[in-house]
Amino acid sequence: MTNQFQQDNLIGQSNALLEVLEHVSQIAPLSKPVLIIGERGTGKELIAERLHFLSARWEQSFIKLNCSSLSENLLESELFGHDAGAFTGANKKHLGRFERADGGSLFLDELANTSGLVQEKLLRVIEYGEFERVGGSKTVRTDVRLICAANEDLPTLAEAGEFRADLLDRLAFDVITLPPLRHRQEDIMILAEYFAIGMARQLKHELFPGFSPRAIQQLMDHNWPGNIRELKNVVERSVYRNPDIEAPITNIVVDPFASPYRPTTRVKTRARQHQASNQGSPEPSNNKINFPIDFKEHCEYLEVTLLKQALEAGQFNQKKTAELLNLSYHQLRGILKKYNLLDKT
Ligand SMILES: Nc1ncnc2c1ncn2[C@@H]1O[C@H](COP(=O)(O)OP(=O)(O)OP(=O)(O)O)[C@@H](O)[C@H]1O
Ligand SMILES: [Mg+2]
Repeated sequence: MTNQFQQDNLIGQSNALLEVLEHVSQIAPLSKPVLIIGERGTGKELIAERLHFLSARWEQSFIKLNCSSLSENLLESELFGHDAGAFTGANKKHLGRFERADGGSLFLDELANTSGLVQEKLLRVIEYGEFERVGGSKTVRTDVRLICAANEDLPTLAEAGEFRADLLDRLAFDVITLPPLRHRQEDIMILAEYFAIGMARQLKHELFPGFSPRAIQQLMDHNWPGNIRELKNVVERSVYRNPDIEAPITNIVVDPFASPYRPTTRVKTRARQHQASNQGSPEPSNNKINFPIDFKEHCEYLEVTLLKQALEAGQFNQKKTAELLNLSYHQLRGILKKYNLLDKT
């Protein structure tokens, strides 16, 4: 591996990644807020850490909080702290993340779903560097560099009135958008080897015997909707399941749920309800979807459901299935490949 770019734990040499890293280096020294946008598993948290460690605040604290995992009240008190007696059960004063991050950086993950109240308080901290603890009257001053992440398109949410546009303006002094893995083809095998070697080491294998050509093809062809986290899991799983630790890996286990005994689920997802209501009718029905949804995920889900049903109706014969869908044989194979459904035929 000659000119591979490798700094800290961020692996890759694609132009898309190198451009992001260059952007990160440029913006890191400023104390301005940064917004990191990217699909799940694209490395938002690693980029946030890098921003902090390349900044002048690197010796101060780097504090993280995932905003989507807490209720509005808990989130407010986690961010801004509370005074003793602020609410039932608040026996002692509690320092919020803003106070704990004073002088350093605060990484707020999954910011998109925060409530209006929290957004209003955030706006004020960014604007004036001050806030009050929950139940407190004293104004607390803080010097924090905010790094926020979201995997949704915040301008769209702001247009729909679900995210404060004035907060977005302030947070988005600059935005780093992470490329999905499928747009960084040349990084796939570099990352795969890196994760495989890590797993082999964990298993105390003397060496990692590499991937067979077929396994490489499979890794390169997959669409990686879960991005680098998915690749890491797939590779690590394939390494530890490799029956002969000295032979190259031939079996890539993309879907750990795949099993002939897999139960069919009775849960009705929104997409299925929608599809059921539209069955047999190309016209839109009156049954409305509960927005927001993830457009791409929703479409992918509909395509996979349709493909599975058509495959069944065509007795898993690709020619018959293609006819049922008014596709050419090659078109169908292309789509099946995209969703890793070729082995179902
Ligand atoms: N360039 C990279 N090199 C090595 N490992 C990476 C790289 N990018 C991401 N990873 C690894 O992939 C996994 C997912 O990264 P991370 O948690 O930063 O993604 P995320 O965008 O925050 O995902 P989510 O939206 O699901 O929270 C982590 O294990 C991380 O270490
Ligand atoms: Mg994350």
